[in-house]
Formats: sequence, C-alpha cells, structure tokens
Amino acid sequence: MTYLDDLFSLTGRTAVVTGGSSGIGRGIATALARAGAAVVLVARGRDALDTTASELRAAGCRCEAVVGDLSTRSGVRAAAEAATEPFGEPDVVVSSAGVNLRPPMAEIGEDVWDTTMAVNLEAPFWLGQRFGPAMAARGHGRLIHVSSQQAHRAFVTSGAYGVSKGGLESLARSQAEAWSAHGVTANTLVPGFVLTPLNERLQEDPGRVAALADRTLVGRNSVPDDLAGAAVFLASPASGYVTGQSIHVDGGFSVH
Ligand SMILES: NC(=O)c1ccc[n+]([C@@H]2O[C@H](COP(=O)([O-])OP(=O)(O)OC[C@H]3O[C@@H](n4cnc5c(N)ncnc54)[C@H](OP(=O)(O)O)[C@@H]3O)[C@@H](O)[C@H]2O)c1
Repeated sequence: MTYLDDLFSLTGRTAVVTGGSSGIGRGIATALARAGAAVVLVARGRDALDTTASELRAAGCRCEAVVGDLSTRSGVRAAAEAATEPFGEPDVVVSSAGVNLRPPMAEIGEDVWDTTMAVNLEAPFWLGQRFGPAMAARGHGRLIHVSSQQAHRAFVTSGAYGVSKGGLESLARSQAEAWSAHGVTANTLVPGFVLTPLNERLQEDPGRVAALADRTLVGRNSVPDDLAGAAVFLASPASGYVTGQSIHVDGGFSVH
C-alpha cells in the first residue's frame, strides 16, 4: 500500500449511494467506485440505474443497482435490505436522492411537504437507523448526506426544500454524536448550484444561470465531478477525525 492508498483507498469497502443514477449521486458513486469501493446504486428508475451501473462496470468497477422508492418508510426498508444483497452490509452510505418541489410558500400543501420531508430527510434518517448501529458494532462506518445552500440561506423559493436540508445537517450532527466514538462518522456535503436534471427548469434561464455563477468565487457553476474528491475523502480512512461537519463544496458561493 502506498501512503495515498492508506489515506484514501476504498478497496474492500462497500458503499450504498441513493440517487446514484443521476447528477450528484451518480458523480459520487463513480468517485467511490473508482477509489475501489463496491457500490450499490438506489433509485426508482430502472433505465438510468442500469445505464450508470453498466458504465461503471465497463470501467472496471464493481457496481450493482437496486430499484427502490425512498418516499415511504416501507420503501426505505425494502430498498435498504435489497441494497445489502449484492455485496453485504455497507461501510459507507451516501444519501443523495432528493426532490426539489418549489411552489410559493403560501401554496405548499400536504403533498409537497410530505414528499419533500420523506425523501430528503426521513429516508436518510431511517437508513441511518438501519445501518448506523451495525456500523458502530463493527467499529467503522461513514454516513454522508447531500445538503444544499438552502439549509443556510433562503433563495429560489426555498420553501419545504430548505427546511428539509436544514434538518438533514442537524441529522448528521445527531448521528455523529451517537456513533463517532465507535468509528462511524456522519457528515454533510453542501454543494453550490450544480448543473443536473434537478434544476433543468432553472437552467432554461441563461441570465439566472450566469448570475448564480457570478455568486461563486471560482466563477462558474458546479458539475457533479466537483464533489468527487470531497466524497472520497469523507468515505475514506483520511476523514476519521472529521465528523458532524457540513462541508461546502461550492466554489466559494457560501462565503461571497
Ligand atoms: N443540483 C443542485 O444544484 C443541487 C444543489 C445542492 C444540493 N443538491 C442535492 O443533491 C442531491 C442530488 O440532486 P441532483 O441535482 O443530483 O438531482 P438529480 O440529478 O435529479 O438526481 C436525483 C436522484 O434522486 C433519485 N430519487 C428521487 N426521488 C427518489 C425516490 N423517491 N426514491 C429513490 N430515489 C429517488 C433520482 O432517481 P429516480 O428519479 O429514478 O428515483 C435521482 O437518482 C439532492 O439531494 C439535491 O437536493 C442539488
């Protein structure tokens, strides 16, 4: 093993990545797989899952896909069990699956609120309940959540979405409090504006996209690959003393 392998290699580790079929989750799944982890992708759509899994396998990675709907508790339970089938219990769980429904605040009804909280906040909580204690018993684990600028500031009709992401960062701290002494870290990645299918509608307004790029210090909006290094770090041995943190990977958006 080289020095860098000791710090960052994920060889021999298993990771589950929710939302791993698209956008940021797909970028993170690719990074973890290329760093050596056997990766299980979880999402609803079979086609995008199969495409991503095939591409990763063609690149020499170990990857399987599980169809699961994380918007209900029974769906989370079923997906979690199915995700252990290909490679066993995970060492790393990344919660990237998310929805961003943006009606004006006054028009948020039960459907939007319930779906947003279920997918963005409750699914990561229940996955943590399923996998966190077992990781702690084994003495090692990594819980990684994908939050948003909107956990920290209101913009672009944050509504229920921002609330769910604020809760998600608090969840990471609670999980860190519970399990860090047993080798299980819990952290949150906070992206900037990442060009993915999630915000396709916003991308139709070039002025808006340029204005968001201007708000960064780097001078451009993000792409999923920007999260790769930080995700590998948080999944790796190198981050063993980093826990309960919200790590902004946003080109300086949050400090501008
Ligand atoms: N893009 C940004 O600018 C940005 C910025 C900050 C944070 N984020 C966060 O990053 C995460 C990923 O977003 P993205 O931009 O990569 O979006 P994306 O490309 O739309 O990917 C979302 C992923 O979540 C899955 N998903 C959605 N609902 C699900 C459900 N009920 N059950 C299981 N899987 C579900 C989708 O697959 P299926 O639809 O097939 O289920 C897809 O794989 C989200 O949590 C988002 O809030 C995004």
